[in-house]
Amino acid sequence: MTQRLLTPGDDPVILWQLSDPESCTLSYLVAHRVCGDALLFDPVLEQMPRYCKLLTDLDMHLLLAVDTHTHADHVTALHDLQQATACQLVRFGKSAPACVTRPLLDQDTLCCGCGGLAIKVWHTPGHTADSCCFLIPGQPQRLLTGDTLFIDGTGRTDLPSGDASQQAESLLSLLALDDATIVLPGHDYQNRSASTIGAERRSNSRLQVLQHQGVAAYAQLMADLRLPPPRLMDVALQRNSRCGAP
Ligand SMILES: [Fe+2]
Repeated sequence: MTQRLLTPGDDPVILWQLSDPESCTLSYLVAHRVCGDALLFDPVLEQMPRYCKLLTDLDMHLLLAVDTHTHADHVTALHDLQQATACQLVRFGKSAPACVTRPLLDQDTLCCGCGGLAIKVWHTPGHTADSCCFLIPGQPQRLLTGDTLFIDGTGRTDLPSGDASQQAESLLSLLALDDATIVLPGHDYQNRSASTIGAERRSNSRLQVLQHQGVAAYAQLMADLRLPPPRLMDVALQRNSRCGAP
């Protein structure tokens, strides 16, 4: 697993990007520099020891463990993080299982304890019905895009509850953000770490189809992908319906 610190020393937000080599998942540890309150987005079960070490090394207190959506390619570490740190478990609310202690609604705000960090929840269905993005304030602001928007890609829409037309609408809503907004994706398969809304608007090939040919053309492009199912899908969906509990 590689770890990248994405924020400079004078940024009030500490932002670490943590990669899982097996699933190419990018997880994010977001913390308030002064009070040490932290949130962990899209943690992968196999990387638990790394998360615990990082939290200890940085003397941070994990308040919330968040899944941007129901993952089909890896088992979430939410349950184990709750056992280890007593954090709350967070996911979009409408279809969230009982293990989720903090169900989210669109436009909710996740606040860290000392109040200096307010992260906006943005419901962006399409990859799954419960997919969300998270907007972290700052200059520039940063958007955790989960599996909605990737660097020169978008999340597949052929898994359970996926819907390409819905995803197209979600992507169009993201494109209304400022060009300088940093895009932090939930996966990258080429070891890239970040992009911007402006760069994706100009050069993301799927967004080119969406912007210039419309929602129906985008949905057709996604239907034509015919991807094989994720290797761990059955196990992952079963475990993740219990927040990763055995
Ligand atoms: Fe996903």
